[in-house]
Amino acid sequence: MQSPSDPRPGLHAAIIMDGNGRWATRRGLPRAAGHRTGVEAIRRTAEACPGLGIGTLTLYAFSSDNWQRPADEVGGLMRLLRVYLRNETARLARTGTRLSVVGRRDRLPAGLPEAIERAEAATAEGRKLHLRIAVDYSARDAILAAAVRLAGEPTSRAAFGAEVAGAMHGSPVDVDLLIRTGGEKRLSDFMLWEAAYAELHFTEQMWPDFGEDDLAAAMAEFTRRDRRFGGLTNPKVSAAA
Ligand code: IPE
Ligand code: IPE
Ligand code: MG
Repeated sequence: MQSPSDPRPGLHAAIIMDGNGRWATRRGLPRAAGHRTGVEAIRRTAEACPGLGIGTLTLYAFSSDNWQRPADEVGGLMRLLRVYLRNETARLARTGTRLSVVGRRDRLPAGLPEAIERAEAATAEGRKLHLRIAVDYSARDAILAAAVRLAGEPTSRAAFGAEVAGAMHGSPVDVDLLIRTGGEKRLSDFMLWEAAYAELHFTEQMWPDFGEDDLAAAMAEFTRRDRRFGGLTNPKVSAAA
């Protein structure tokens, strides 16, 4: 679904990229190797989106709760984001990909918010895919911030949703398809407002192994789902019965 400020056609897929650590541990490698290999999966997955009818892809890269991890893992993830922005921005611009980073920016390491702004500006014209990477993201904090801002004000779902997205530097786009890799079946504080009617897809595949075929399989299953949004599949037939 699209927001008024974002006329890009296509579905919104969101992915909880889980399983990097287990992928590495199973191979006798440090967890950081799983995070590094996961970056390749980001590239493969993003580049497959336009061909599969996905116009917006939101990737959960670092939750606000992930600050609890050991400092060296957190530091490694922040460095990886910096390297990603440095190495991938030109390729994103070339492939028509607009990059946005959603989440809080005030707790990121020095220099990273500026690097994010530069990458966003350099890719702003991308029209094939809107790639949104969620960093220091918490859906609960977003909803709480919106509630505090609008406390006592009359509001609508749309206006409240815009506040929720705005609290994390994003624009309001309902999630159509929510995928989680790594075998866990939970949301871990991701897109709680925007995923109200998302179709859920859980896969055992660890994120570093995820690619175009897995995304295509998730999309094939998505197209077979009957999205009723609380209504009926075929109201005329059902009403007559
Ligand atoms: C997902 O992989 C990436 C982040 C949360 C940063 P994990 O690091 O959670 O990997 P597992 O779940 O421990 O295997
Ligand atoms: C969710 O994964 C966050 C990201 C993928 C960025 P976690 O590995 O942090 O989630 P839990 O701890 O298993 O719920
Ligand atoms: Mg995990």
